[in-house]
Amino acid sequence: MARIRVGVAGCGSVSARHYLPDLAASPYVELVAVCDTDESRAVSVAGNNGVRQYYTDIDAMLAGADFELLCNLTPMREHGPIALKALRAGRHVLNEKPLAVNLHEADALLEEAARRGLVVTAAPNAVLSPTFRAAAAAIASGEIGKVCAARGRYGHSGPHEPWFYKSGGGALFDLGVYNVVTLTGLLGPAVGVVALSGIAVPRRTLHGEEFSVEADDNTTLLLDFGDGVQAVIQTGFVYPRRAKGGAGYDDRATIELLGTSGAINWLGYDWEPHGIELCTETSDNWETRAVDQHGYTWKNGGSALARSLALGERSAMTAEHAYHTLEVMLGALESAATGRRVALHSTFPWPVLEPEDAMTSATAVNE
Ligand SMILES: NC(=O)c1ccc[n+]([C@@H]2O[C@H](COP(=O)([O-])OP(=O)(O)OC[C@H]3O[C@@H](n4cnc5c(N)ncnc54)[C@H](O)[C@@H]3O)[C@@H](O)[C@H]2O)c1
Repeated sequence: MARIRVGVAGCGSVSARHYLPDLAASPYVELVAVCDTDESRAVSVAGNNGVRQYYTDIDAMLAGADFELLCNLTPMREHGPIALKALRAGRHVLNEKPLAVNLHEADALLEEAARRGLVVTAAPNAVLSPTFRAAAAAIASGEIGKVCAARGRYGHSGPHEPWFYKSGGGALFDLGVYNVVTLTGLLGPAVGVVALSGIAVPRRTLHGEEFSVEADDNTTLLLDFGDGVQAVIQTGFVYPRRAKGGAGYDDRATIELLGTSGAINWLGYDWEPHGIELCTETSDNWETRAVDQHGYTWKNGGSALARSLALGERSAMTAEHAYHTLEVMLGALESAATGRRVALHSTFPWPVLEPEDAMTSATAVNE
């Protein structure tokens, strides 16, 4: 079986605890090298996952290691610059979310990838879940009528490193991004956005040090999909901690889709789904679907892209969708800052899933 040779940039929390074990377990992946500016992290992640080469400089890894796909798991501000270097060095790229932190960087990534015939895209991989497929199929079939109103909510008490609270971070880029991908993935490209956003908890303490929050930690945005179709997304680092289950606030009813003749409620988070509940005007009860995730998890964006590349299949996670998601988020922050509605211009291949793909159950990422 063809394996895609993979290099990883960033050996922090997401890399060490989530992506590396998933990549190491994939039959489509040969892990070649890892890189972190913190040498101890690079050494540890390489050693724990049987990776023979480690680097402390991305330029050195791109020049010295033989791999085809870079998984870029560095902080958000590094996504654009590192991905551009990788594309210029002839590598496909999967960025953790977001694709970049401004459209100038994102434009450069899409242009470079197109020029070189390479794939660039970004997490989240929410459109790959069987739950997303079930919802997309129900909408495409007209089962719940025209979806005119939708709602997403994702927040918690805040992440573990100070950079999440600095410029280029914030709750929308870290958490709201999931709901933006899910709702645009289901309803199509949005044409406008209006938002309120701000810093509700201005001082934080992490690792024993107090610091000022610089990126918005509380955002509410309204999306206009045209034809009278609207969605609202709420996201924040300012929600309560739950007694059990870590920092996550509440994984019930995180996504709600209201159609003219039926409705869908998400079970679990869109990044960690447990299925959907669906009812129509003629059903007596909510029907539960797509409970089995067939191996899908939020952490297998890298292995899923490696699988697509190995099999020569188109991935449902497109560069254009990642770009549109970024435009929505930047537009929301602009709207909040100016008090004006912001028009959105980008689009992406939609439906995200071909109707026949949406109808079939998901293929497990490792099959
Ligand atoms: N923390 C989460 O729960 C979570 C979940 C999903 C996705 N993400 C995303 O994953 C990415 C990483 O998040 P994290 O929580 O692992 O952060 P982290 O701060 O724990 O790890 C980032 C790592 O990147 C390294 N790094 C920074 N600049 C670098 C450079 N130029 N070259 C090489 N390495 C560099 C840092 O030394 C650090 O080890 C972010 O984009 C984040 O948005 C985080």
